[in-house]
Amino acid sequence: MSDLVEFGALSPSSSVSSLATPVSTDPINTPDTDVSVLFDDDIEENPLDLAVDRNRYILVVGGLGYIGSHTVLELLKEGYNVIIVDDLSNSFQNVFDRLKLLAENYFQRIGEQMPALHFYSFDYRSAMMRKILSRYTTYVNPWNCVCEKAGPTRPRLVRNSCCNSPSVESMSRQRICRITGVIHFAAFKSVENSIREPIPYYQNNLCGLVNFLDLLNEFGVKNFVFSSSATVYGSMANKSIPLKEEHCVHSPESYFDHDGEERKAIPGTFGLTSPYGRTKFMGECILSDIAYSDPTWKITALRYFNPVGSHESGLLGEDPRQKPTNLVPVVTKVLLGEMPVLSIFGTDWNTSDGTAVRDFIHVVDLARGHIAALAAAASGKISDPFRTFNLGTGKGHTVREVIDCLQRASSMEVPVQEVGRRPGDVGFCIAEVKRAETELNWKAEKSLYECAVDVWNFAKKSLGSSSRCYDKGRDIDPWCHLSIS
Ligand SMILES: NC(=O)c1ccc[n+]([C@@H]2O[C@H](COP(=O)([O-])OP(=O)(O)OC[C@H]3O[C@@H](n4cnc5c(N)ncnc54)[C@H](O)[C@@H]3O)[C@@H](O)[C@H]2O)c1
Repeated sequence: MSDLVEFGALSPSSSVSSLATPVSTDPINTPDTDVSVLFDDDIEENPLDLAVDRNRYILVVGGLGYIGSHTVLELLKEGYNVIIVDDLSNSFQNVFDRLKLLAENYFQRIGEQMPALHFYSFDYRSAMMRKILSRYTTYVNPWNCVCEKAGPTRPRLVRNSCCNSPSVESMSRQRICRITGVIHFAAFKSVENSIREPIPYYQNNLCGLVNFLDLLNEFGVKNFVFSSSATVYGSMANKSIPLKEEHCVHSPESYFDHDGEERKAIPGTFGLTSPYGRTKFMGECILSDIAYSDPTWKITALRYFNPVGSHESGLLGEDPRQKPTNLVPVVTKVLLGEMPVLSIFGTDWNTSDGTAVRDFIHVVDLARGHIAALAAAASGKISDPFRTFNLGTGKGHTVREVIDCLQRASSMEVPVQEVGRRPGDVGFCIAEVKRAETELNWKAEKSLYECAVDVWNFAKKSLGSSSRCYDKGRDIDPWCHLSIS
């Protein structure tokens, strides 16, 4: 638990906001509000423990998904307490059990106490989200009194030497949220589906985001990491040059291009190819606007290139509830005999073998990038209130090279058929990675072959029909609150 001291240092000021100067006009912030969800809600833990750093949490929304689950495990290993919110729309509850098992084994091995891990199963757009934030929030006044739940209408003061002082209403109270950082993974992610059915994409990826940010602002939780994507570069990805963060900006920036020429980047992007890509671009625009309007936010948008691979145990990996459309899960299905043949979309790109080139990054490297981003923002290493980072390897591989690696890792042949290009696809997408290396002190380490070995290990242990032990159709209690500490 020693790492938790470091964790407690995460953005301490940003998670405290004074109720005397409310940041929202919502009546819930007004001391004499008659009905308050905040005070009516249960606060499970002893509020007097608040000063103790080990009571701080990182909230991971969409934390049982592919990237989220690997990130949660890395957060736990680094000593962070984690709250997961996930509605299981594209994942299974079984992932939580596996996470718990892996974390317990890890902490048993190193002989340390495991950080807390809480899971709530619901849609982050629902009213439950406010309840969760209030559950991890306590109120203090300048006399160091703690406001506790006391009946349906009013807060009551406890442990004080000042209860003779005037009413609660006249006091300047502070809301202290023990959530010091948020990583927001929850979104729909299929390029193809977003073209067919854009509305749910805009609803989940954008409407949900805006309301969530408003809520976090109200609770003073302002260290926010957003899952963005290389898709924000739109048709820049067809220019066969590594993509720099400055190729898509939200406020004017100067930079040096690949020929050493100084250039000015104008806000915007070119040729977005799908509603999904637009949700990520617009999400970044919204985040940038919010951060620049109130620089107490620390918002980091991480532009993932192509996450692949699995945890080395073979217990975590990519196993979506929805039909997969990404290359690697589809190859896996073909290898497992669940699909007869792999379609290669487009063999006429301007690349070495005609298939599309991507920057494939191991999901564990990617997961660690999130921790680097949270820590850099909290320590003040990132000076801008909004900053984007590419998370990739800086190296490209063609689709055929990926298939070859998976064939070698599995010692099996993948039957393929060549078909035309898919709507929304681009030919060449490689990250320029200097910014993340310099400012986040983070670098991807694993090779494509290591990714392939881990993918095949996960497929054998967790996905094959004989090894599959997921409880897939089960409904669960929306207040399901499993915890280990
Ligand atoms: N995987 C990729 O190739 C890739 C690339 C670039 C960006 N991204 C982005 O990274 C994030 C995570 O991607 P992933 O591959 O882990 O996806 P995923 O679908 O495996 O994980 C997303 C998780 O969020 C949950 N979720 C979705 N909507 C929710 C809601 N309204 N409330 C609560 N939970 C909700 C899902 O159940 C799922 O567990 C997404 O935002 C995605 O757009 C992914």
